[in-house]
Amino acid sequence: MNIHEYQAKALFAKYQIPVPNGKVAFNTEEAQAAANGLESAVAVVKAQIHAGGRGKAGGVKLARKKADVTPLAEEILGKILITPQTGPQGKEVKKLLIEEGVDIAKELYVSWVADRASTSIVLIASTEGGWRSKRWPRTPRKRSSSSRSIR
Ligand SMILES: Nc1ncnc2c1ncn2[C@@H]1O[C@H](COP(=O)(O)OP(=O)(O)OP(=O)(O)O)[C@@H](O)[C@H]1O
Ligand SMILES: [Mg+2]
Repeated sequence: MNIHEYQAKALFAKYQIPVPNGKVAFNTEEAQAAANGLESAVAVVKAQIHAGGRGKAGGVKLARKKADVTPLAEEILGKILITPQTGPQGKEVKKLLIEEGVDIAKELYVSWVADRASTSIVLIASTEGGWRSKRWPRTPRKRSSSSRSIR
């Protein structure tokens, strides 16, 4: 499914699922203006490409003060990000999500996958995932799935 993080978060917000405040930006001026409009002191500059694993590839940067957003946006916009999901040719960053920095207590990874074998939607939840894990955890203790809930 080709939707960006900012579009997915807008859908979440529409259905009252809490997400950090943020705005899409197509150039550095828009990025700085978006950051200035945020209530939080810390802003996060996030490359919007159709691939995961952006953090490790340099596509997610924390601006500890608002003035840091312009140089970070300059650095990330136009960059070719190569992640395990882009292929070796990478993907060019043409837009950014400028988002409130949040204090993260715990990161959990949840996804819904169309499972052809059971002809149902499978919910997968894990304590491990994202850019810090090299691969999907094999141990059932860290991964839990259910195909009973949604049809
Ligand atoms: N709004 C935020 N506030 C604070 N930290 C953040 C925020 N967004 C992201 N981060 C930090 O940056 C890391 C990378 O961000 P994120 O998980 O969104 O991207 P990614 O893992 O590189 O890409 P993807 O999740 O698409 O694979 C997060 O694990 C988190 O530690
Ligand atoms: Mg992640």
